Amino acid sequence: MKNHKIAVIAGDGIGPEVIEEGIKVLNTVAKIDGSFSFEFTHFPWGCDFYKKTGAMMDSDGIEKLQQFDAIFLGAVGAPGVPDHISLWDLLLIIRKKFDQYINLRPVKLLKGAPCPLKDVKCEDVDMVFVRENTEGEYAGSGSWLYKDSPNEVVLQNGVFSRKGCERVIRYAYELAKSQGKSLTSISKGNALNYSMVFWDQIFEEVGREYPEVKTHSYLVDAASMFMVKDPSRFEIVVTSNLFGDILTDLGAAIAGGMGLAAGANLNPERKFPSMFEPIHGSAPDIAGKGMANPLATVWSASQMLDFFGYESWGKKLIDIIEEILVEKKVLTPDMGGNATTSQVGDEVVRRISIK
Ligand code: NAD
Ligand code: IPM
Ligand code: MN
Repeated sequence: MKNHKIAVIAGDGIGPEVIEEGIKVLNTVAKIDGSFSFEFTHFPWGCDFYKKTGAMMDSDGIEKLQQFDAIFLGAVGAPGVPDHISLWDLLLIIRKKFDQYINLRPVKLLKGAPCPLKDVKCEDVDMVFVRENTEGEYAGSGSWLYKDSPNEVVLQNGVFSRKGCERVIRYAYELAKSQGKSLTSISKGNALNYSMVFWDQIFEEVGREYPEVKTHSYLVDAASMFMVKDPSRFEIVVTSNLFGDILTDLGAAIAGGMGLAAGANLNPERKFPSMFEPIHGSAPDIAGKGMANPLATVWSASQMLDFFGYESWGKKLIDIIEEILVEKKVLTPDMGGNATTSQVGDEVVRRISIK
């Protein structure tokens, strides 16, 4: 029997609440399938850990995580700890150290999911974002000069390497080719006259290897408008770290909300563990109340199953999420229901068990 070793970083706020449901679901899938199992190892890292130790994770945390097949992460961030510390010293450092350069974020409107757009059918909102995940605007390069003086200057550099751009763009072309879909690049070459001109150039260069893939190239401002006015234009989308971050929250808003939005941080070469997480944060406003929607985490569990090669199980979980949304009986308040986080998790488990 194949055993998958998973490191769990439940983290802060609603992180532990939604991760508990994700684990329940993965264990149920493994039990019913019978040909594989999961072994979960919990790491108590996050903001509480920081408040006790002054660090977000163990000093050899990266070496510890390296031993695992995947990482399952809840959310990071809590009032009282500066966000740039909590996120940089845990989530972002993992993405970078493990070269998880692909951030794969489906933006797919399932039947029954709430959608704020007028006259939109589910088929119209069906895209996959391929967000660059290790460099770009979030490279962490910059400086803070003459701090606290009247001459204070802050520099935040965008870092766009040829290798970094080529690999994410090539991944997106491959995905579009394998699914017979169009590929849209989102950039901003008119104003970002180095980084995004370079990005556009590489998008064209790599594109020459994929004559069969239909492409579009939009400026990010226009793309934001089209995502709302005409989302069916987008199928596979490739974009930079910052633009991908912002546009996938917009994507979440048009595809049911943060409670449904999932993401996979992939190291495609599998040299390092990949990390699966809901894309929402720790939601301090609802933490501890049993109100958090665990379906985004279940969706990220489905991405993990896909990554391990159990695509039929991955698809089954998405089908179950859709059934639950259509039936509308067991949903958390963000979806208009009054069920608790664990009741929704239990409902997923029940449906896996009767499939
Ligand atoms: P957030 O995603 O935590 O919350 C935004 C809104 O969405 C809130 O109203 C929240 O209640 C709601 N929401 C989010 N997830 C939900 C769920 N599963 N079910 C129901 N409602 C949900 O974003 P924020 O408020 O901007 O950030 C809060 C903290 O989380 C900050 O510290 C931020 O830095 C951090 N953050 C972490 C991650 C991560 O760990 N991946 C991602 C984004 C933000
Ligand atoms: C996300 C988050 C993170 C990001 C933050 C918390 C650093 O917003 O995963 O979308 O910007 O990547
Ligand atoms: Mn984000």
